[in-house]
Amino acid sequence: MSTADDPRWWRSAVIYQIYPRSFADADGDGIGDLAGIRQRLAYLAGLGVDAVWFSPWYPSPMADAGYDVSDYRDIDPVFGTLAEAEELIAQAHRLGLRVIIDLVPNHCSEAHPWFQAALASPDAPERELFWFRPGRGPDGSQKPTDWVSPFGGDTWTRTTNPDGTPGDWYLHLFAPQQPDFNWDHPRVRAEFEDILRFWLDRGIDGIRIDSAAMLAKDPALPEATPDGPSPFIDLDAVHEIYRSWRRIVEEYPGGRALIGEVWLPDQQRFANYLRPDELHAAFNFDFLGCAWDPVALRACIDATLAAHLPVGAPATWVLSNHDVTRHVTRYGREDTTFSFAAKREGIPSDLELGTRRARAAALLSLSLPGAAYVYQGEELGLWEVEDIPPELRQDPMYFRSGGVDPGRDGCRVPLPWSGETPPFGFSPDGATARPWLPQPADWKDRTAEAQAGDERSMLELYRAAIAIRRAEPALGDGELTWLPAPDGVLAYQRSPRFTCVVNLAGAPVPLPPHTERLLASGPLDDDLLPPDTAVWLRTTETTAT
Ligand code: NOJ
Repeated sequence: MSTADDPRWWRSAVIYQIYPRSFADADGDGIGDLAGIRQRLAYLAGLGVDAVWFSPWYPSPMADAGYDVSDYRDIDPVFGTLAEAEELIAQAHRLGLRVIIDLVPNHCSEAHPWFQAALASPDAPERELFWFRPGRGPDGSQKPTDWVSPFGGDTWTRTTNPDGTPGDWYLHLFAPQQPDFNWDHPRVRAEFEDILRFWLDRGIDGIRIDSAAMLAKDPALPEATPDGPSPFIDLDAVHEIYRSWRRIVEEYPGGRALIGEVWLPDQQRFANYLRPDELHAAFNFDFLGCAWDPVALRACIDATLAAHLPVGAPATWVLSNHDVTRHVTRYGREDTTFSFAAKREGIPSDLELGTRRARAAALLSLSLPGAAYVYQGEELGLWEVEDIPPELRQDPMYFRSGGVDPGRDGCRVPLPWSGETPPFGFSPDGATARPWLPQPADWKDRTAEAQAGDERSMLELYRAAIAIRRAEPALGDGELTWLPAPDGVLAYQRSPRFTCVVNLAGAPVPLPPHTERLLASGPLDDDLLPPDTAVWLRTTETTAT
């Protein structure tokens, strides 16, 4: 079913993530833009997705690719104008696509006017809107805490007073160019409530909340200990913020959704964000990091559904995004998990195997109960680009780790649309600027143009799967019933009369009884399902195990 008229669309939607820098470049400067997105919106409507989520598009010095915002109510000139964003929202709606924007409330850019005012004088009232603190030690030369950034390295930077003497330090959980807001201050809360309304008034349907578990900090600034609660992740105080946001979005008609980026190992703590008066949904990073392994996947699916059930929230299924290794590459490795701690480049990956598994994973994630996310290029079967020369790298994670962490540029390479050579239609013919990150020559076989109409392609698999998902009353929100299956095989039924079987065993397995084969991720051998292959079947209702 299309979710266009459903106020509870976020429970079932297929949501496509657009990373604006890398989607489509209309003006030929090598960087994607809103005009490029507008030219390609029909492609997304044709893919059949229900909603698009735009990674940040605001004015930004781009120290962290736009997750360092200097003005929350405008569009960066590299992407376009506010008027173009409004037209893009309207055009998306005409095509039946919902629009989700990315809001970054934990921190802003060092170029934000509040932070500039705070830096200008130790007495500026704006200092209270951030976390300025004197240093430790007799001369204040030691940072206030030893908290470690998720980007690696320090979380404090010392300021210089207007007279040139060393001053206070300020907190930045991410890069130094991303000062953290003080959410204990009413002005910060009021400002973001106003920003929410600014975009809701422009018709957006949802908000993806960046670093959603990190807004509240322990004001005593204790050290982080390995076993104790974190002083800056998942403090109880954060929930009141989302309760107030929920009240705001519910003032608007049509079903506006809050979707949290919540990385937490504890499913119970994670589910707290999804209580009925808080966020509508949150990303399932357990699934995104899970090994391609039947026991691990089933445990992850069960734990996910069990955590969401008591709070009545829909699960989400995410395989890739702009922060993690593309899953074609991940699934082709010996270790198929993803974690930031273990992220390394150049580990051999069998891309053919990874692609076969990614195809099966598409049918898995698109048939589990809840909403599904597709990161741009996933539908083209793109792999992680791991040979970007050091001088072209952009990601602060790479630089702050001294190159030990390869960073996230490899999943952010501009999309290949058409043609035989870079820029593969990403930029218009005749553009002199090259794409902001180099595209592999081998992507000539993975362009949207090369795949369109080829029923064996990843693109046509996604189109077919999403079309079936729309037509099937069993898919999207709802429940799942596991079916008896051989070791290494995941088989579940969605009611009415739909079964998905994923073979993660090393040998072909027979298909369960069915009346029709709806879609398979790869060729079947008569009624045998080969390894690393998934199939969707029309079945009669079966007794559950
Ligand atoms: C999470 C975003 O997804 C990531 O790209 C960004 O670097 C951090 N939050 C900081 O905003």
